[in-house]
Amino acid sequence: MELRKTKGRILSGMRPTGKMHLGNFVGALENWVKLQTEYENYHLIADYHALTTNLDTSELLANTLEMVADWLAVGIDPSHSPIFRQSQIKEHTELHLIFSMLITTARLERNPTLKEQVRDLNMENITYGHLGYPVLQAADILLYKGNIVPVGEDQVPHVEITRELARKFNAIYGEVFPVPEAKLTNFARLPGLDGNKMSKSLGNTILLSDDPTEVDAKLRKAITDPAKIRRGDPGHPEVCLVFTYQQRFNATQVPEIEMGCRSGQLGCVECKHRCAAAISRQIEPYRLAREPYAQNPALVMEVLKEGERRAHEVAEQTMAEVREAMQLGG
Ligand code: TRP
Repeated sequence: MELRKTKGRILSGMRPTGKMHLGNFVGALENWVKLQTEYENYHLIADYHALTTNLDTSELLANTLEMVADWLAVGIDPSHSPIFRQSQIKEHTELHLIFSMLITTARLERNPTLKEQVRDLNMENITYGHLGYPVLQAADILLYKGNIVPVGEDQVPHVEITRELARKFNAIYGEVFPVPEAKLTNFARLPGLDGNKMSKSLGNTILLSDDPTEVDAKLRKAITDPAKIRRGDPGHPEVCLVFTYQQRFNATQVPEIEMGCRSGQLGCVECKHRCAAAISRQIEPYRLAREPYAQNPALVMEVLKEGERRAHEVAEQTMAEVREAMQLGG
């Protein structure tokens, strides 16, 4: 199918982390869906990148299929926007290798995102491939000549490295690549149920596929204003996690909830039920839309195969230009 003619090309990517949670939705997916009518979108599944922190590949495919089921359920339209796995398109590894010659190890060691990860995961030593994480990411973006990369704050240093690699390649071999821009998602990270960043590894998520009973049960355990112990105590919405969710998912009721909380009339239990209901109202359509894919993963596989066929055409073309610019081959 014809891609819509647009403002430019977006390359968005995510590691295959399995079922999507509200943080993924607010921080990325919702934005991708909005952008797909204005731009030409390529949605990459960074399954090679997943190896940088986990060498166990036994769940990689299952996690990929679960993740893509959610992408489709929220409205990513694969007839506009190819969805594909990095590992299925061999040009990623070729361009990665060429780019690895154009950047110093010192530059990669200065990458703040890597430093943070090493600290968070308590890693003593990292692999050669992990150091090159942003080099592979640059190949992901530039193979498709992406102009725009929608990312969170932590990925900005990687887009910066992509820009440097594009400029460096163009300066040495001639103009092949655009210099892409990061597009920051405007909603700040959504906190998880414990107040930390919402993340699968921290076990503090609400999944898009959770049913209303599950959402309600999860919300029940969410932290609130520690000074509000029982109904009647005046609360402080500005320090309450549940209030953050109310603002994001239940905007019309916020003024009344805020008054009720401050005055003590509204108790946390009731507030949480209302919040859970609002969240479920929003995600219920996604849960239902993912059902056919969850029941029949072969459908998701078909979407991937078709996306990979289309992505490969573009990647092959770019690599032909790269080889010609570098006078590799004859
Ligand atoms: N590094 C990104 C993340 O962890 C995932 C990713 C891989 C990516 N390749 C990409 C994002 C290309 C944007 C573009 O979130």
